Amino acid sequence: MRIGPYTLPNRLFVAPMAGVTDRPFRMLCKTLGAGYAVSEMVTSRRDLWSSLKTSRRANHEGEPGPIAVQIAGTDAQMMQDAALYNIDRGAQIIDINMGCPAKKVCNKWAGSALMQNEPLALSIVEAVVAACEPRGVPVTLKMRTGWSSEHKNAAVLARAAESAGVQMLTIHGRTREQGYTGHAEYDTVAAVKAAVHIPVVANGDIDSPEKASDVLRYTQADAVMVGRAAQGRPWIFREIAYFLETGMQLAPPLVAEVQRLLLAHLQDHYQLYGECTGVRSARKHIGWYVRSMPGGEAFRARMNTLEQSDAQWQAVKDYFDELSSRMDRIPVTEGGHHSASQVHAGAFGYEESGV
Ligand SMILES: Cc1cc2nc3c(=O)[nH]c(=O)nc-3n(C[C@H](O)[C@H](O)[C@H](O)COP(=O)(O)O)c2cc1C
Repeated sequence: MRIGPYTLPNRLFVAPMAGVTDRPFRMLCKTLGAGYAVSEMVTSRRDLWSSLKTSRRANHEGEPGPIAVQIAGTDAQMMQDAALYNIDRGAQIIDINMGCPAKKVCNKWAGSALMQNEPLALSIVEAVVAACEPRGVPVTLKMRTGWSSEHKNAAVLARAAESAGVQMLTIHGRTREQGYTGHAEYDTVAAVKAAVHIPVVANGDIDSPEKASDVLRYTQADAVMVGRAAQGRPWIFREIAYFLETGMQLAPPLVAEVQRLLLAHLQDHYQLYGECTGVRSARKHIGWYVRSMPGGEAFRARMNTLEQSDAQWQAVKDYFDELSSRMDRIPVTEGGHHSASQVHAGAFGYEESGV
């Protein structure tokens, strides 16, 4: 699997998720088998570039390449500037976001609203490619199947984007109108794959090794991208890789391993966000890790009362120490683990995260 000059180790991608896929989480997913991760969206608004949030989002220290940064906006010139700004800060691949359904994004910036205005969408793609191509930076595009069930224009846009120089496409199998409701469909993803010659990535509701395998086979996509199912379960990538390779299920991780991963994740998280923000933003990650574990709900509630990072870190350590005295491996809930559909996007802050 290649994106422009970059050869990726496999075809398992972490989805960009604002407020979730920061550098610590991306690096964790990569360590656990993801071949590629796109950073959280960076605004094309110049006035926000110096904000703490944007500078954290543009932090790629120590991250294995290629470094891919997603940009979003509705103005071609601003998007071109945003691409150049991020290239100067280490981006090796620029991803354009045409997939975000959040009102805040669609009104103010772009996201999947752009799919409704094909000429504008194309002018943005052309402007970004014009900036990136001379610098040897591939441009990729992430979109939904269309604006609504009557307007599924992903294949039309895909062909136009390919002609304009886009080097990879990701399709989330829902329309903008759907938000995160209903189910992702993969016929449109398959239609896009059949319509273009560049790599196509299938995304939406992939929450188990079997599902990843089925979607790859059904759509003939070059890769799969996993979002919500990786929250609190970053080892899903090695589980998928193992299944694709052997047709067998990997045993769930040892409690001791999850403890080690989470404690290291927290240290990295505190370092990026600092004490005050770090403790609060770590809560959602901790909640995701423990949600399907015994006593997870009560532990999650207790987490919200702790305000210091060392107390939070110690509580997590104690919780897993106690758990490992009772069981070796983390329990598997019915149907594998928590499914993507159980993990509601809104509840976990796509809009709250301030995208
Ligand atoms: C909390 C959250 C934040 C997201 N942020 C972004 C984003 O910044 N850019 C983007 O293109 N998609 C974003 N998405 C959409 C995901 O990349 C993905 O397309 C979607 O969640 C479907 O995949 P899944 O079913 O595997 O979660 C976000 C989704 C969630 C749940």
